[in-house]
This record gives sequence, structure tokens and C-alpha cells, in this order.
Amino acid sequence: MKKIGIVGAGLMGSGIAQKAAQEGLEVVMVDVKPEFVEKGMNIIKSTLQEAVDRKILTSDNFTEIMGRIHGTTNMTDVRDCDIVIEAVPEDMKIKHGVFKQLDTICDHKTIIASNTSTFRVDALAEPVNRKDRFLALHYFYHPAKNRLLEIIPGSKTTKETINAAKRYSVLTGKTDILVKDAPGFAVNRFFVPVNNESTRMLAEGVANSATIEKAGRDALGIAMGPFEIVNLTGVPMALHASAGLGLGLTPFYDPSERLKEQASSGKLWPIEGEIQEDKLEAIKDRFRAVVFYIISAMLDEGVSSIDDIDLGAKVGLRWAKGPFELMNDYGIDKAYAIVEKFIKSWPDLTMPKSLIAQKKLGKPWEFRFVKYYKDGNIGRVVISRPDAMNALNHAVVNQLDEAFKEAEADKDTKAIILETTGKAFVAGADIKFFIDCIKEDKLEANYDFTAFGQEVLNRIDDSKKLVVAKMDGLALGGGFELALSTDVIVATNKAVMGFPETGIGIYPGLGGTQRPSRFIGKEMAKYLVFTGRVISAEEANAIGLVDYVFTPDEIDSKIESMIKEGKLAAKKGKKTEELPAEWQKIKALFADENISALLSGKYQTSNDPLEAKTAKTLAAKAPIALRMVNDIMDKGYKMSLKDGLKEELAHLYEIFRTKDALTGLTSVGKKPQFEGK
Ligand SMILES: NC(=O)c1ccc[n+]([C@@H]2O[C@H](COP(=O)([O-])OP(=O)(O)OC[C@H]3O[C@@H](n4cnc5c(N)ncnc54)[C@H](O)[C@@H]3O)[C@@H](O)[C@H]2O)c1
Repeated sequence: MKKIGIVGAGLMGSGIAQKAAQEGLEVVMVDVKPEFVEKGMNIIKSTLQEAVDRKILTSDNFTEIMGRIHGTTNMTDVRDCDIVIEAVPEDMKIKHGVFKQLDTICDHKTIIASNTSTFRVDALAEPVNRKDRFLALHYFYHPAKNRLLEIIPGSKTTKETINAAKRYSVLTGKTDILVKDAPGFAVNRFFVPVNNESTRMLAEGVANSATIEKAGRDALGIAMGPFEIVNLTGVPMALHASAGLGLGLTPFYDPSERLKEQASSGKLWPIEGEIQEDKLEAIKDRFRAVVFYIISAMLDEGVSSIDDIDLGAKVGLRWAKGPFELMNDYGIDKAYAIVEKFIKSWPDLTMPKSLIAQKKLGKPWEFRFVKYYKDGNIGRVVISRPDAMNALNHAVVNQLDEAFKEAEADKDTKAIILETTGKAFVAGADIKFFIDCIKEDKLEANYDFTAFGQEVLNRIDDSKKLVVAKMDGLALGGGFELALSTDVIVATNKAVMGFPETGIGIYPGLGGTQRPSRFIGKEMAKYLVFTGRVISAEEANAIGLVDYVFTPDEIDSKIESMIKEGKLAAKKGKKTEELPAEWQKIKALFADENISALLSGKYQTSNDPLEAKTAKTLAAKAPIALRMVNDIMDKGYKMSLKDGLKEELAHLYEIFRTKDALTGLTSVGKKPQFEGK
């Protein structure tokens, strides 16, 4: 997956091209006339220039990115692309023309994708011979900024094509959800009717527009209400989207008369009137009923999963909570009651079976953050909580345990790959939980969580199967510790890792004080844990903490072929003379005899730049955490790993009771001032 083609250099095409080029892919962008190509290139240039002005990119980045985009009117330029995405106007005839041409021009390997918002994938694929390598990739405006990507296979699309699309999504920094080929796909299916319902309520005189707007915001926990959103994206667009849904679904989804009137008036929605407080609750329930009905019906129809629907709302629409999460908060029984009442006005709607079943179950919806699946003779355990950078919380650790046990019990698998979705590997543990534990004086809950986490990681460590961590992004604290509990760490050159704990008043509790020193020696392990320095995959490989480093587009095939050939083996640890010079010095500096001087700050005035810099870094860390972790690492190093891990657990209450722990944990975005208390 190195080169991609975009057909149509308009609003969407140019954004898709920009994002792919930004992430390092080679891009060919085609349009029918040179002026359209130029227009697309200019859209990209101005978006990138904005990023340069805001110091998100440098002018060198700008030049590099533009250098990867080849604008052309010659369709044959896309022939050797790995994937070609069509983003021409929403007109079946035009799209069919493009697909026919692409099917003839492109290499056998090329996957053809459509960014359609309303057509069915099978209908789009009609003139194409390679229906197995055809699917829809639905982007959201602005495609270079909005991270959501809906992957929609047609009935003939193969699993290999879906996997390739997922790989493309990861390579271009997207969060993808898998959706069945159904009207509105996943997100628009529940989002568009929210706006439509607001116009119905207005027409019925339920309340003034300002009240409906506020009720929409409050019910769904969103920053902009339904009218404001439509004013931003365009009233005709809202009408078009509703009409599309209505055509494919039932009359409930049809655009309201009020929406049609507003669209033909050419005016925006007026958001006016005093808030009518007494009407808010009923309106909120009506919005909830619409969303809860639709998402449950989507489950019945197999449109998408609970997890993906929620992810779609959070990533694509920036809702603070997904709709199923909102339903859990509201209560399943109450949700059932408002849906039951709501559907009475619509003869075309019936109570969704999934909601009936959930009510019977008497439990909230359960999210699956960790899944196990078999891929030939490889077992894959996949953590997927990309909106929270896959942070480890109770649910994730519990499900990791279940998924891992399932993987281990699978007799046919040779190896287990532990992988995650989204841009981060695992960004650490859920800090909010720690803060709540401290504030609510429930340190035992924190202890239990950590002890159970250690148990799960030990199970991974002790597994008789080969366990491989595929680290393709940020791995901090618990995430790094999780990877270190596997047999082999294979990273992409985009992975970075570190132990930030002493900078937030605590110390690593999932083996971070024990496993690294067994791989790379106590000195360098102390350096990493004390300073919190974030190192790249290449650096980690050079010191012997990461076993292999590959580029993102080759990592999967490399892992698979090495497992097949039995060549994937741990190579952790290095002899001192094999270490890069900088690390040899670090190793010497962190020798036992220097530690107390280092911790006392004595080296801050040293003439040696490494000594002075390191001492200054340590001076900004929590002093109690540093001293404690030093002792734990010293003691644990002389013990068996299991006893060392117990030693790590033994001081949890002590560290979490310090004032500095709360100061550090609540310091996100600012530099904490530790008091040594
Ligand atoms: N705009 C959105 O918010 C949005 C969101 C998701 C999906 N979509 C879908 O994306 C697609 C493109 O939408 P857009 O908003 O970018 O449209 P647009 O009108 O901005 O761009 C379409 C481009 O396609 C070019 N084009 C037309 N025929 C062509 C051909 N035969 N070969 C090559 N190029 C050709 C046009 O010259 C134009 O530059 C549509 O299918 C739309 O439904 C749009």
C-alpha cells in the first residue's frame, strides 16, 4: 500500500489526497480538466498553508507533502496504484463511467473504492469485473481532518480487500468502522433523522427553535444543536441526505415538509425565542427516542456493531458519548419506554428485536473493546478503543484477559498477535480512574485493578504460544508494559514508547519496574523509568528493548511470514559494546554508585552535558516516586520476576497516598509542581 489514486479533485477528493500524502503515500489525483486539477491542488495548498501558519507543519513538510501529489488529467496515471478512490459527483452515470475506465486501465492488484454517500455498493460495482476488489470508503467532511472512515464492502467484496482497506485506513491515520451496505451507512442513518425530527417538532409547534436546539444539545451531549449543524453544512444538503434515506428506507426517514420549505426558501434556520424550560424534557426524550430506535434497528439489520456505531458518533460527529453509551446512561427500561411511545406515531416502525432482548436481559449494552479472532493458524487479539488511544481501563483489561484465554485455548494457532486499532498502540492506563480512586478514598480499587492487570500480563508472559506485540504507535506506561510482557515486540518506525509515570507523581505498576531491567539491565531501565524519556522504535531496537522494526506497510506481511517460517524470535538485550555510544554513557551514569548523587540533584551543575541534562530532568519529577521506584528496582532485580512484581505492587498504597500523586495525575497539559509530600 504505497501509491493511491484519487479520481475527482473536488472538495472530498482533494482532502483525501492531502491526508494520504501527509501520511507518506504517493498520490495521483485526476480530474477532467487542468483547471479542476489546479483547483484541487490549490485547496490542498491552502489547507496545508493554514497548518504551517498554525505551526502544525513546517514549510519543509508543506513542500514534501505537495511533492507526493501528482495532479493530472490522464486517467492512465493511476494504473499501478494499490487503491483508487473515486470522488466524482454523486451521479450514477458519471460514477459508472469512471469505474468502467478504471477497471480497464488498472493493474489486477488495484482495489477500486467509491466515496459515495448515498448509492449502494453493489449497484456501483455493476459495470466492474473486479467486484471482489471493489468497495465503498465513506469519508466525512473535512476528509483530511475528520478521522472517521466507514468501510463498506459489497456482497462480492473479499476479506482480503476489506483487510487491505483497513490497512490503508491505518496507514492514513483514520479510525475505521465496518458497515453493511445499507442506506445512510452507519453514521448518517441516525444523525440525519435527528435534524429531520427537529424540523418536525418545529412544524408541530412543540416549541420554538431555540428550545428544540437546546434540547438536542442536552439530550445528545453535543456542542451544536440540530439547527446550527444544518446551518453550517447547508439546508439543501440536509434535505438531500434525508431524501436519500427516505428512498432506501421507510416514510419515517422521509424529509419533513418543513425541511423542504426551508430548503426552497434558500435561508438558514432561524434559531430564536426564549428557552421554554417546561418543554425541554419532552423534546429531549423525543430526540433520544429517534436515536435509540434507529441504532437498535441497525443492530437488528446487522448494519454495524454497537462498538462501531458508538465509535462512528464519537470520531465522526465528535459526540462526547456514543449513542449506545447514552442509552446505557439513560437506562435500558426507560429507553424502551420512550421508543415504544415514539413508534406509535409511525406505522412503518416496529420495536427493534435487539432492544426487546436487551430489556429482557436487564443489563446495559456491553461494548467489546477487545476481540479475538483466528486468521489461519494465527490468533489475533485486537484492542480497539481508538477514541481513547486504547487506554487500559477495567473493561479493556477484563476483555483482554478473556480474549487472551480464548486465544491460548485455540489448539490450531501457532502464535498470538497482540495488536490495536487507531493511531496509538496503547497510551497507558486510564488516569481518570486513578484520580477517582484517590478522591473517593478507594485506593483498594486501584490496588485490585493493578494486581489484576499484573495477573493478565503474567498470563501473557507465561503463555506457551509465541506472543507477538505489533506496536504501531504510541506506547506509554501500561501500554509499553503490556508490550514488554509478550515474547517479541515488532514495531513500526512510527512507534514511540516511554514510562511517563514519575512525571505524574507515581511509578509504573504493570511490570515496568521489573521487566525492562531484565532485558536491558538495571541501569538503562532506571534511566528510562526515572527520566520518562520517550524513545523511538529504532532507539528501542538499538538498545535491545524492541526486537524488530519495519515500515507500516510491510509490518503485517513480515510478521506473518516470519511466524510461518518459525523465524520470529526475541532478540532483546545487547552487550554494552554493541550499544550506541550515547547509551553506553547513560549506562555508566546510572550505575549503582551514581544513583544517590543523581537523585540529590548534585549533577545539575556538572560540566558534562548528559549529567547536567539528566539531573535537571530528574529535578522536575516527583521525588518520592523516584526514590520509591529506585528501591523497588534495586530490590526486585535480586528477586525472581514474580517476586519483583509483588514488590512493585507492595508500594502502591504508599505512592497513591502522596499529595504529589494527585498533583501529577491531575496535571494534564501543565507542568506539575511537586512538593515531595
Ligand atoms: N461533500 C461532502 O461532504 C461529502 C461527504 C462524503 C461523501 N461525499 C461524496 O463524495 C463525492 C464527491 O463529492 P465532492 O463534494 O467532492 O464533489 P465536488 O463537486 O466538489 O467534486 C467532484 C469533482 O469530480 C470531478 N469530476 C467529474 N467527473 C469526473 C470524471 N469523469 N473524472 C474525474 N473527475 C471528475 C469534478 O470536476 C469535480 O472536481 C460524491 O460522491 C459525494 O456524494 C461528499
